[in-house]
Amino acid sequence: MKKAILVTGAFGLVGSDLVPALQKKYGASLVFALGNKTIPKDFRGQLVKGDVRDLSSLKKIVTKYNIGIVYHLAGLLSVGGEKHPDLAWDVNLNGLRNVLDLARDEHLRMFWPSSIAAFGPTTPKDMTPQHTVIEPTTMYGITKYAGELLCQYYHSRWGVDVRSLRYPGLIGYKAPPGDGTTEYAVHIFYGLLKENAYNPFLKADARLPMMYIDDAIRGTMQLMAAPADKITVRTSYNFTAINFTPKELVTEIKKLYPTFKAAYVPDPAKQRIADGWPKSIDDTQARKDWGWKPEFDLPTMTKTMINGLKKKLAI
Ligand code: SER
Repeated sequence: MKKAILVTGAFGLVGSDLVPALQKKYGASLVFALGNKTIPKDFRGQLVKGDVRDLSSLKKIVTKYNIGIVYHLAGLLSVGGEKHPDLAWDVNLNGLRNVLDLARDEHLRMFWPSSIAAFGPTTPKDMTPQHTVIEPTTMYGITKYAGELLCQYYHSRWGVDVRSLRYPGLIGYKAPPGDGTTEYAVHIFYGLLKENAYNPFLKADARLPMMYIDDAIRGTMQLMAAPADKITVRTSYNFTAINFTPKELVTEIKKLYPTFKAAYVPDPAKQRIADGWPKSIDDTQARKDWGWKPEFDLPTMTKTMINGLKKKLAI
């Protein structure tokens, strides 16, 4: 019998696009979406309710549905993690450890996202290399770096085929924006279409690595499809497409909506997080090992976001 796929955090920013992509590739009957609280009413597909912190119920799900691959996406983001550091540790790391244990015991293949947040203020900011100083200062970043090391450990100690990407700020319209720092670049499109105005919560020149969600989904599926001997990084791959500042994004939007209004009103807590992250990323290793190549630049991303969100909001 064909093995099925489990996606945790299935209704977050990544899951909301990954689940349909997996359904399209493998068939809807083989893709199980695990959600905890927020299940969209219009979801079509196999739904399982559960919490990644509960190992015994995860184990039952894996056995019952004959799961062979897990995309383990459930987790708190950077801003949420600073509000609830204990919860971030619990969900992000204990959840990951549970899924890694399951992957080891039940011979599952596994994907888990790390983030540019794994880096910290002492990391070189421009074209941040794959291997560099890594001293994160947010709870989110700490869980991401500890998680990377845990993945590498499970691979080298028990041969678990776990693969990971350091996602940059991801921009998509299917899920509402999460409680993160790069999320201003998602909120801005809601502000544009609802009020023709939005004030980014970061400084005008706060440059951060970013990616349109379609690139992220394609890259994730490409990584998971690559032969195991091509995967030379078992912590997490640097992974990027574009980088821009709030001001550059506003300028791009103004080319299409010249009356759009934006003032930069940095939120000190969010700006502090952004200040610790890279401005651009060197993802040569991902390109070399499994052929990573992004497709969306800033203008294409902007147009696609506006068109997609217009349809979603029926504007
Ligand atoms: N989008 C995430 C955040 O800002 C980055 O991993 O928290």
